Amino acid sequence: MRCGKEEIRRKSGCFEDRYHGIITMRYSACTCQGLRRKARLNDKYIAPSGLRPGRLFNLEAKILELGFIGAGKVGSALAVLLQRAGYSLVGVASRTNESARVLAERLNCPALPGKELAAKSEALFLTTSDDAIAPLTAELAREKAFHPGQLVLQMSGALSSQVLQPAAEMGAITLSLHPIQCFAGVEQAIALIPGTYFSIEGDARGYVLAEKMVEDIGGKHFLLDSKAKVLYHAAACVAGNYLVALLDTALSLLAEAGVPEEIRLPAFLPLVTGTLENVKKLGITKALTGPISRGDRGTVEKHLAAMENLPLLADIYQTLGLATVGIALKKGTINEEQAAALRSLLADHWNGIH
Ligand SMILES: NC(=O)c1ccc[n+]([C@@H]2O[C@H](COP(=O)([O-])OP(=O)(O)OC[C@H]3O[C@@H](n4cnc5c(N)ncnc54)[C@H](OP(=O)(O)O)[C@@H]3O)[C@@H](O)[C@H]2O)c1
Repeated sequence: MRCGKEEIRRKSGCFEDRYHGIITMRYSACTCQGLRRKARLNDKYIAPSGLRPGRLFNLEAKILELGFIGAGKVGSALAVLLQRAGYSLVGVASRTNESARVLAERLNCPALPGKELAAKSEALFLTTSDDAIAPLTAELAREKAFHPGQLVLQMSGALSSQVLQPAAEMGAITLSLHPIQCFAGVEQAIALIPGTYFSIEGDARGYVLAEKMVEDIGGKHFLLDSKAKVLYHAAACVAGNYLVALLDTALSLLAEAGVPEEIRLPAFLPLVTGTLENVKKLGITKALTGPISRGDRGTVEKHLAAMENLPLLADIYQTLGLATVGIALKKGTINEEQAAALRSLLADHWNGIH
């Protein structure tokens, strides 16, 4: 078993934790209560010792030996990109021999049994479907396949690093590393990952390495508190899945308006992409247009009347309308009085339905 952890005392009286030559923590000798307090080399976690934020990496990071269990879309794409970025691969494993073989051939590395792969990997990615992560981790722990100092990562948005607890109990540094993106296939994932944001959650000792890997494949990153993971995932569902549901709601209204099916999506897609471009260029508040933004109460009243027999669609219109009033107020295109009138119109109608 290899463990890349070492502690180094510097002349300045500081201590550094290193993992395979990369500084992951810096400590200062602190007179306060005679304790040695920790300060991470990271903007967010710097503090007690007063050390300046900064990142010190060296190229030895790339001697990290990676393993992937789960040769699906995310696992395959990450493995390809990390290998391109100079990381070396111990091998890959998957539920079926066929998936493992296809990825192993592409990467020119061995397809190994999960236990052997886990034992040999310095950073082990569990890129299976979400439901398989807990049983797989438990099984690998029973087989004593994890080792101290090993980095073990899973990629789920919904699950925190807690799901890797059996690995943590064996001394592994456990993280969830979630790409905020929708991947429909391996090639698309390879193309989309550069520029994608990754949330990093879990054992702080692994942050620097995870950040470095994300940066090496062109991604961006931020740290997430374990307790916030569920809300964070709800936010991602609203932005991704509910955007689809919202578009479907708009198309249902178009159908009610008698617009032929083949026209509906093509007619609305330019509106949606144009709006997204505006959000990108101007930010949320400035991108808002429409009747609520103008304080046009009469138009909103007509919309609601037209949806009288469409309770579910009216419900969505009103709930989002109430949220839109807040944005218009922030934009400054309506005043408090107009906002109150719009809110009461939207809420009254809502109360009438429920
Ligand atoms: N796709 C996305 O848009 C997306 C975005 C962000 C995060 N994620 C996360 O990324 C992870 C992987 O998702 P994905 O989209 O890549 O899924 P996927 O394409 O369905 O791939 C999952 C892979 O896991 C393998 N697998 C399942 N159970 C296994 C087990 N017990 N042991 C070993 N391998 C097993 C399957 O192997 P076989 O092929 O051999 O059957 C499959 O190739 C998930 O945690 C997901 O939440 C996905």
